[in-house]
Amino acid sequence: MIPFKNSTRKGTVIALICLLAAPFGSQASTDNSQQWLRESPANASLLAYRNPHLSLEERVDDLLQRMTLEEKAGQLMHEFFSPGPNGTLSGETVMMIDELQMTHFAFLGNILDPVEAVEFHNRLQQKALDTRLGIPITISSDQRHHLGPGFIGGGALGYFSKWPSYLGFAALRDPELVRKHAEIAREEFLSVGFRLALHPQADLSTEPRWARIAETYGESAELSASLIGPYIEGLRGKEFGPNSMSATTKHFPGGGPVQNGWDSHFVYGMNATYPGNNLDYHLISFKAAIAAGTRQIMPYYSRPINTEYEPVAFGKNSASMASC
Ligand SMILES: *[C@@H]1O[C@H](CO)[C@@H](O)[C@H](O)[C@H]1NC(C)=O
Ligand SMILES: *[C@@H]1O[C@H](CO)[C@@H](O)[C@H](O)[C@H]1NC(C)=O
Ligand SMILES: *[C@@H]1O[C@H](CO)[C@@H](O)[C@H](O)[C@H]1NC(C)=O
Repeated sequence: MIPFKNSTRKGTVIALICLLAAPFGSQASTDNSQQWLRESPANASLLAYRNPHLSLEERVDDLLQRMTLEEKAGQLMHEFFSPGPNGTLSGETVMMIDELQMTHFAFLGNILDPVEAVEFHNRLQQKALDTRLGIPITISSDQRHHLGPGFIGGGALGYFSKWPSYLGFAALRDPELVRKHAEIAREEFLSVGFRLALHPQADLSTEPRWARIAETYGESAELSASLIGPYIEGLRGKEFGPNSMSATTKHFPGGGPVQNGWDSHFVYGMNATYPGNNLDYHLISFKAAIAAGTRQIMPYYSRPINTEYEPVAFGKNSASMASC
């Protein structure tokens, strides 16, 4: 049913870590999502959490006290999904929404044309509106604008513009071009309903055997730090709001130096090594991402080996959690 069933689960980890508020209720570009805006704030039957005239905190407080434990648990999950034929909802997606009460999904697949992608998104948000509380669905995505195959969930989408990989941008050393790229990527993502970016990668490619170095800004912390801020700002736009992509910087605290170049999506890639005791060097571009206002940080699935920290997975590691 679900990828990585027997290894580390991407979703549950991401959703829990350092998750700041996404632009609430701004997910959909469908007509239905606008229905709350047409209602008067004086309408006593308008539930507080659906009232756009109230503050984010008031709406969240109201919604939380209406939620069952199962609905709250569903909010903590984040799983891959793929559209069915012709932009329909697959049975698995319907099950995850209806039975698991989930609202966060990562897009997997490359089969839709733009019209089907929008129809798929509209069906999805209609399905969300039909649930008990009508919480909109957030769609996340790995990078989709780079030529070449992606790693598991990523890779170019046919109808998006094509750009070099992050490593290609690193070679160009042009922060303003990176910003422009991210602004265009944001517009294209938003046009088909994607809201949450599972990027950029602040990882340094200090282990040349790792399969994900094309998605990094190279092995220099300073270069990576100089490009990651403009990327996050380009995804956000002038200020964070309904026209922003919410950036998730990954993979904390630096997924580059995995033992033998293996990847920690797989059990054998469990060991993150920081040769030369240089963990601090790997944190430099994460600091730049935080300074630029990244909304989320995704820990990697590995654990530190031969460092001063406990050899426990970063998503559960007390030192890693304390720094969030
Ligand atoms: C008030 O809100 C309810 C439920 O959201 C809606 O059905 C109704 O049409 C609204 N009434 C007015 C006068 O806006
Ligand atoms: C998808 O759309 C095509 C063209 O309209 C149609 O021929 C086909 O039967 C559809 N497939 C499904 C599974 O609905
Ligand atoms: C990870 O490191 C531990 C401790 O050094 C070692 O025992 C284990 O074999 C390593 N795992 C793999 C898959 O190499």
